[in-house]
Amino acid sequence: MRAMVRETHLHVEDFIYPIFVIEGENIKNEVPSMPSVYQFSLDRLMEEVTEAYELGIRALMFFGVVTGKDEVGSGAYAEDGIVQQATKLVKEKYPELLVVADTCLCEYTDHGHCGVIHGNDVDNDESLKLLAKTAVSQAEAGADIIAPSNMMDGFVAVIREALDEAGFTHIPIMSYAVKYASAFYGPFRDAADSAPQFGDRKTYQMDPANRLEAIREARSDVEEGADFLMVKPALSYLDVIRDIRNEFDLPVVAYNVSGEYAMVKAAAQHGWIDEQQLVIEMLTSMKRAGAEIILTYFAKDVAAVLRNS
Ligand code: PBG
Ligand code: ZN
Repeated sequence: MRAMVRETHLHVEDFIYPIFVIEGENIKNEVPSMPSVYQFSLDRLMEEVTEAYELGIRALMFFGVVTGKDEVGSGAYAEDGIVQQATKLVKEKYPELLVVADTCLCEYTDHGHCGVIHGNDVDNDESLKLLAKTAVSQAEAGADIIAPSNMMDGFVAVIREALDEAGFTHIPIMSYAVKYASAFYGPFRDAADSAPQFGDRKTYQMDPANRLEAIREARSDVEEGADFLMVKPALSYLDVIRDIRNEFDLPVVAYNVSGEYAMVKAAAQHGWIDEQQLVIEMLTSMKRAGAEIILTYFAKDVAAVLRNS
C-alpha cells in the first residue's frame, strides 16, 4: 500500500548525466574529490557513454577539460573543440541519445571566468557575443538542447536569436536561470580546472540568501524565450525549486552539483551513511520539491538501482 500511495517517483528518463572530457589519449582519470567520476579522453569516452546508455540513460552533458586556454575562451566555440568532438562522436553512435550542451566560457578562459574580462570586471555584452557563438557551434556539432550557464544578463535572448539565425529554430534552451554563487561547486572546479584565477563569481551568480530574486531571474529568462528553467545547486535550494515550479509552466531542472555528490561519497567512504538510500532520498526530494529533471553525477548509480527494483 505504501508503494501505491507514493506521490513521487524517480525514473531513469528524469536524469541528465554529466561527463568530463579531457584532451589527450587513453585517459580515464578519477577526479579526487568526486570518487567514481572520471575525466575521459575522446578515445575512451564511448566506454562510459555505452555504459550509461545500457543502463537506460538517454541524456548527457559534456564538460571540456583543456590546456590551451586564452583570454576569450576560444576553445568553447572552436569547430573541433573538445565538447563539439564529443557531441559528434556520441550522436554518430547513438542518434537518439540527447546531448545537452553546457554553454559557457569558464572551462576555456585562462582567467577562469564565465565571460570576457575588462580590467577587473566581466564585460556582460562582449561575453554574450561569444556565448552565442558557442551555442551555435554546439548546435552545429549536433547538440539537441542548449544550456547556457554563465548567468550574464540577456543571455537567453541573444542565444535564441543566434540559433534562429543559424537555422536552429527547433533547438530548445535550458537556461541556468537560477544559479547561486555557491561553495558547492568546489569539486567541479577541480574536475574541469575552471576556478576563477582572481576574484569570484558574485558579480554574475546569485546571493544564496535571496529567494525573490530567483523568480525575477527566471521571469526574465522566460520572457527571453527559455524552454526549461534550471535551479543550481539543488539540495540547499529546494524551496527555490518549489517557487519556480509554482510560478512558471516550464519544465524545471535541478542540478545536483559536485559538492552535493562529494559530501555523500565522503561520508559513505567512512561508512557513516547508507549511500544508496541517501541518494534515492536526496533525488526524490528534488522531484518532490517540483523538479521534473535532475542533472546528477549519480545518474548511473540510480539507474542501476531502479533497474533492479
Ligand atoms: C560554470 C559552471 C559551474 C558548474 C558547472 N559549470 C559553477 C561554477 O564553477 O561557478 C558547477 C557544477 C557542479 O558543481 O557540479 N559555468
Ligand atoms: Zn562558466
